[in-house]
Amino acid sequence: MSVAEVKKTACVTGGSGYIASALIKLLLEKGYAVKTTVRDPDNVEKNSHLKDLETLGPLEIVHAQLDEEGSFDNAVSGCDYVFLVAAPTNLGSADPEVNRHFYHVSFSFARLLGVSRDTI
Ligand SMILES: NC(=O)c1ccc[n+]([C@@H]2O[C@H](COP(=O)([O-])OP(=O)(O)OC[C@H]3O[C@@H](n4cnc5c(N)ncnc54)[C@H](OP(=O)(O)O)[C@@H]3O)[C@@H](O)[C@H]2O)c1
Repeated sequence: MSVAEVKKTACVTGGSGYIASALIKLLLEKGYAVKTTVRDPDNVEKNSHLKDLETLGPLEIVHAQLDEEGSFDNAVSGCDYVFLVAAPTNLGSADPEVNRHFYHVSFSFARLLGVSRDTI
């Protein structure tokens, strides 16, 4: 395989969402392989557009949930880039637990890179 044929892989979290869907389409059109996360891969109503996008290039759909630490380990594994797009609708919540969601994805990426979570 020539260097030109080697595709970089990007993880886009929240593939059922508006922004992530547009980003996935853009990345596939530009030749990137994409792994995206959804909370319910079996939800045909929410994910049918992803099946359509699979015609543009390599797209893998995996389960991940923001409030589960370690949930994104599989999603970020093998990826060169990670786009953190999934977001709970109550992001402005006064509940500090909501803000921990970002760290669960970050810790998965840190494990992939072999970076100590203390440095994040
Ligand atoms: N839309 C805009 O014009 C706009 C503009 C500027 C910034 N943004 C920002 O971009 C981000 C995405 O916006 P959007 O419009 O694409 O939102 P959206 O369509 O509501 O998508 C949100 C995504 O996050 C996922 N999600 C929510 N809670 C989750 C959880 N606990 N675990 C895993 N996934 C979860 C949802 O999955 P489910 O389908 O399973 O619920 C969905 O895929 C937000 O941070 C928003 O503030 C949006």
